[in-house]
Amino acid sequence: MLALTRRLLLCALFRSVYAACPPSCECSEAAQTVKCVSKDLRAVPAGIPGYTRTLFITGNQISRIGPESFKGLDNVGILSLSNNRISEVDSHTFAGLSRLRSLDLSNNQLAVIHPDAFAVLNKSLRELNLSRALYNHTSVMDLATSLCQSSLGKLQVLDLSDNSLVYLPPRVFSHMGGLRRLQLSNNSLVALHNSTLSGLESLEELDLTLNALKTVPEEGLRELDSLPGSALLLGENPFMCTCGIESFAAWLNGSQDRVRDAESLSCAFPASLRNTSILSVGSLTLGCYQKDARAELALQTSYVFLGIVLGFIGLIFLFVLYLNRKGIKKRVYDMRDACREVWEGYHYRFEADSDPRLSQVSTSAEL
Ligand SMILES: *[C@@H]1O[C@H](CO)[C@@H](O)[C@H](O)[C@H]1NC(C)=O
Ligand SMILES: *[C@@H]1O[C@H](CO)[C@@H](O)[C@H](O)[C@H]1NC(C)=O
Ligand SMILES: *[C@@H]1O[C@H](CO)[C@@H](O)[C@H](O)[C@H]1NC(C)=O
Ligand SMILES: *[C@@H]1O[C@H](CO)[C@@H](O)[C@H](O)[C@H]1NC(C)=O
Ligand SMILES: *[C@@H]1O[C@H](CO)[C@@H](O)[C@H](O)[C@H]1NC(C)=O
Ligand SMILES: *[C@@H]1O[C@H](CO)[C@@H](O)[C@H](O)[C@H]1NC(C)=O
Ligand SMILES: *[C@@H]1O[C@H](CO)[C@@H](O)[C@H](O)[C@H]1NC(C)=O
Repeated sequence: MLALTRRLLLCALFRSVYAACPPSCECSEAAQTVKCVSKDLRAVPAGIPGYTRTLFITGNQISRIGPESFKGLDNVGILSLSNNRISEVDSHTFAGLSRLRSLDLSNNQLAVIHPDAFAVLNKSLRELNLSRALYNHTSVMDLATSLCQSSLGKLQVLDLSDNSLVYLPPRVFSHMGGLRRLQLSNNSLVALHNSTLSGLESLEELDLTLNALKTVPEEGLRELDSLPGSALLLGENPFMCTCGIESFAAWLNGSQDRVRDAESLSCAFPASLRNTSILSVGSLTLGCYQKDARAELALQTSYVFLGIVLGFIGLIFLFVLYLNRKGIKKRVYDMRDACREVWEGYHYRFEADSDPRLSQVSTSAEL
């Protein structure tokens, strides 16, 4: 009886130490690591041991996570939830993970992100991976709100690549003064507006490759210049080499020490300049001045043409006059005779009507 009790007790002890691993997970106490990988899980499994420091729950079918998902896991420093179908992140989901340093939510379908989703991370989070994590670009507004409401002051790496983002809300990164690396590659960003990048004082690398930038106008250049300590990557954007790109080209020429891929940046449009290095496009290659010159030439040509037409009309007129010279001569004589008659008649009348004193004066003047 005693032996049986002891056996049962031992058994219970063994279970609590060795068997405390959810089915469909692999637990290694020595490595303090638990992996639940590609097991068709619909939710974060219960019973993950408290010693866990590294937790992988990847490649499953999890669609929602909340604070109850991670109860009693305050040793977890690295959490990967990538390749799930997470669409909803509830309020205070990660609040219990007070030592969380790295959170990977890449390859999910986040559509509903509660404003307090990332709240109470106790400034412990260093790395947040949201690559290909958003359901569509509308989710970025929710995300921006929740990022602004969390204490992410110690965050060093933020990956927002592959998200089809067309727009970044102003000041979205303003609470991330500690950020060193910002990944924005493979989105659809068309511009960098005022305050998009404000607050990123510690940034060391900004990756904007594979976006939809056709040029970077003054406003965007000012934003990039607000990060003087940061290296920049701008490759694989569809740069449009028309006259508007001159200021960007000049800026690029002066920023080659910061723009790591400056030499490989090339025009995508127009077709005649495709693959031409942006560093080599001056105003001459762009034809900005040539265009002005051409317009002026066209204007001059039209003046010359007008002159020729007027001259020709004049010539025809003269020719007609020449052909009619006899008729005209006759008419001129007729006119002269008519004038003379009129004039003489007038003269006569004038003398007759004139003041006798005036004629007297005139005669005295003649004298
Ligand atoms: C993005 O997804 C939401 C649903 O989560 C939908 O209401 C919205 O219309 C979608 N936006 C676009 C641009 O597809
Ligand atoms: C935050 O972390 C520090 C240690 O880094 C710890 O002493 C403190 O209790 C934590 N606060 C909360 C609210 O978890
Ligand atoms: C984020 O996750 C993606 C895919 O899971 C990976 O390729 C990328 O390197 C990760 N980003 C960082 C900064 O580790
Ligand atoms: C860019 O992101 C899309 C998903 O948004 C993905 O399908 C595509 O493979 C990515 N392209 C590159 C070059 O990474
Ligand atoms: C951006 O800022 C500049 C000056 O700082 C200002 O002239 C311009 O109007 C601003 N643009 C927008 C869209 O607010
Ligand atoms: C590029 O900058 C250098 C000086 O740093 C200058 O001499 C050169 O003319 C510039 N080239 C163009 C095309 O602006
Ligand atoms: C531009 O470069 C790409 C790859 O570098 C090449 O495939 C393409 O044929 C080039 N186009 C032209 C017009 O030179």
